[in-house]
Amino acid sequence: MSEPQPTRLSDYHPPAYRVTHTELTFDLDPAATRVKARLHLERHPERAADTPLELDGERLALEAIAIDGQPLDEGEYALTDTGLTVHRVPGTFRLDTEVAIAPEANTALEGLYQSNGMYCTQCEAEGFRRITFYPDRPDVMATFSTTVIGDARREPVLLSNGNPVERGELPGGRHFVTWEDPHPKPCYLFALVAGDLERVEDSFTTRSGREVTLQIWVEEENLGKTDHAMASLKRAMRWDEETYGREYDLDLFMIVAVNDFNMGAMENKGLNIFNSAAVLTHPKTATDAAFQRVEGIVAHEYFHNWSGNRVTCRDWFQLSLKEGFTVFRDQCFSADTNSAPVKRIEDVSFFRTAQFAEDAGPTAHPVRPDHYIEISNFYTLTIYEKGAEIVRMLRNLVGWEAFRQGSDLYFARHDGQAVTIEDFVGCMEEASGLDLAQFMLWYSQAGTPEIDAFGEYDYARCEYRLILRQRTPATPDQHDKRPLHVPIHLGLVGTKSGHDLPLTLDGEALGSDAVIHLREAEQEFLFTDVSEAPVPSLLRGFSAPVKLRFPYSREDLAFLLANDADGFNRWDAGQRLAMLALDDLIAAHRNGVEKVMDPRVTEAFRGLLNAEVDDRAVLAEMLTLPSEAYIAEQQPLVDVDAIHAAREFMRQGLATALRDDFLRVYRENADDAPYAPEPEQIARRSLKNVALAYLMAIEDEDGIELAREQFAADHNMSDVRHALTLLVHSSRDELSEPALKAFGETWAHDPLVMDQWFAIQVTRPQPDVLDRLKFLMHHPAFSLKNPNKVRALIGTFAGQNRVNFHRLDGEGYRLLTDVVIELNRLNPEIAARLITPLTRWARFDEERQALMKAELERIRAEELSPNVYEVVEKALA
Ligand code: TRP
Ligand code: ZN
Repeated sequence: MSEPQPTRLSDYHPPAYRVTHTELTFDLDPAATRVKARLHLERHPERAADTPLELDGERLALEAIAIDGQPLDEGEYALTDTGLTVHRVPGTFRLDTEVAIAPEANTALEGLYQSNGMYCTQCEAEGFRRITFYPDRPDVMATFSTTVIGDARREPVLLSNGNPVERGELPGGRHFVTWEDPHPKPCYLFALVAGDLERVEDSFTTRSGREVTLQIWVEEENLGKTDHAMASLKRAMRWDEETYGREYDLDLFMIVAVNDFNMGAMENKGLNIFNSAAVLTHPKTATDAAFQRVEGIVAHEYFHNWSGNRVTCRDWFQLSLKEGFTVFRDQCFSADTNSAPVKRIEDVSFFRTAQFAEDAGPTAHPVRPDHYIEISNFYTLTIYEKGAEIVRMLRNLVGWEAFRQGSDLYFARHDGQAVTIEDFVGCMEEASGLDLAQFMLWYSQAGTPEIDAFGEYDYARCEYRLILRQRTPATPDQHDKRPLHVPIHLGLVGTKSGHDLPLTLDGEALGSDAVIHLREAEQEFLFTDVSEAPVPSLLRGFSAPVKLRFPYSREDLAFLLANDADGFNRWDAGQRLAMLALDDLIAAHRNGVEKVMDPRVTEAFRGLLNAEVDDRAVLAEMLTLPSEAYIAEQQPLVDVDAIHAAREFMRQGLATALRDDFLRVYRENADDAPYAPEPEQIARRSLKNVALAYLMAIEDEDGIELAREQFAADHNMSDVRHALTLLVHSSRDELSEPALKAFGETWAHDPLVMDQWFAIQVTRPQPDVLDRLKFLMHHPAFSLKNPNKVRALIGTFAGQNRVNFHRLDGEGYRLLTDVVIELNRLNPEIAARLITPLTRWARFDEERQALMKAELERIRAEELSPNVYEVVEKALA
């Protein structure tokens, strides 16, 4: 096999031929679907008349080809594994092709495939080339007209993008529907769905009076699980009108739920396709987190209708143009709909754990990469979440009003175009009058900037001097980094008053909480008229995606935890305080010294548990210790066992000292009102469940009783799943086994609940978990062909069960590798993602490094898909 070659941003050329209109006919059959394509093509005015026509196409059996009605002779075109070249074509012409494809054999879930017998498509990023010969690139935008022919009984429902314009019966029990999409789109937004589906229908009136029919299509047994998605969709449509002035642009908007799907969901024009896990909810089957995730994803895909579809990406290097902006939009929507501080805390703790780890590993890349081998490997936390952080910084830099003007300008100027990140930032520059040249480095420079901050208060002069130094560590192919433009949102909290002090910088009064701009490698900020000694509250709201160090004492942190006016930084002070104490415990564990609980942490927690509560959801976050993955991110060398032991010691120490407080908080927040996924209820449940987790950490008898009752009460999935997890994590089989059995039997018929049943079992800290995992891989509800199952069982184990995945006998690594090797053939996209934990080998001790690298070598010895090849090569480079 020849080595896959990278595609480079610097090689970009506009397409030689564009498609103005695309007509497709699908005659569906599991083994041989026939796809007829009629493309109306036009040569680029600046290209020579002898420029060949090059089309992408993979795994297609070509059966007919004609230009302007004239079949081509074999010498007039050439076929390869990756496409079709027609040597000479007219300046404007019609190309007809007919190909055969086999959806039933498609386990990669890219292109046209079958899921539970239903036909569906996934074309982003480069799946359309598995459907027909086409210029499969986002800067070719055409109107589409699609006819779907299927069996009237097996496929009563035939869907595609746009509006249905014709339908009818055909001989042999077949029927057809023709769809027209009037909005020009790149082929990655094409979609087709056919099967025996039922729908739930609603409607939405846009602010200019367009009546939009909203449909959610599901298999019959899921009809009762669509309410929340529908309500979320309507909220998102209203929010986008009110916040960004964006209205929907067709008379019909459809969502379809499918069981086998590589990612969360896909924004195909007018026909969003969802992983069923990202759309279906019911109080008895979905947790609060799942309800919130569904709301966020429904909104995300809907928001793409403007940020992605109406204005799309010129090439895949610009992926963050649509994804970063759209994630930012969905984050703001969720913040407006739920508890804003909690949404920010959740997003940031996830970001600092997972994106920072990506930045620190061998697959680190800029938000706009400059080369890739396989684009589907670049649907990453960096492109999505760091991209969103950059857009958030832009909003904060230019202010909401200029940002909204810039956004209006972007949508107006580039409507119907395929554009670049410069076009987006250019609109923000124009609207704000700011120079964003240095800011653009955020898109091209990979890695997490590290900022060291130092402060000094001069009592005599009433001055506070803040020194900031920034540095971005080298990443795989970028060694020298330049200073970035980093907005630092800060306050100075007076140690006497406990309040934010007024800020005066260079003679200018900034108010009591302000943003300063770090642009140099080192910069000094001198605040004058500071009337008392302050503790600085830095990087409020995580105002930039950086690591910021400041030599806080534990007293400083306890002070900020109690007094900071910024809710996010109050939480962060608690996390920093816990981290300092955890560092001591990790060191004690490594040195074989007795571990001692830091009383300052206990007292801070006691204070939280006894203070007047204003936001229960924030309090629940504050009472939650940093995760093992986050703690690992902070260590120079990851010692999984020491981290686990330290964190467990602290949890048990807190539980022992504050047992009565936790019990009281549990009781105060227990509530049996009918389930609703509303912020107030969700907050109570999380607080109650955090308290229960502490009680179970010491296997307190009252705690055990409460967990069993909560499980048996079967009030809602949030409570049931949490109780079940705690029982399964306990050391007593008589608690875990009957509960698991009962749950598994009750929900054997529901794949989404079974995913949770799988996931819970493989997070068990006990060493028997590997045998259990191997056993579960043979469970009738498990299948390697279903990505949700793979994520639930294998992904959860490798990502969340750190002590067992990293076992020193190498069994955890071996198991993951076996699965990767099998999935490399079945589903390369999922296989490549699953390798991630092994790519982080450099962070561990030598023994584990050797074991992990040996497994990566074992993968490398296989015949690899480009997806897996790219990841493994980087990991072993
Ligand atoms: N554009 C989709 C989103 O952000 C992402 C997506 C869905 C995707 N399915 C995919 C990307 C398959 C690559 C491959 O919502
Ligand atoms: Zn997206």
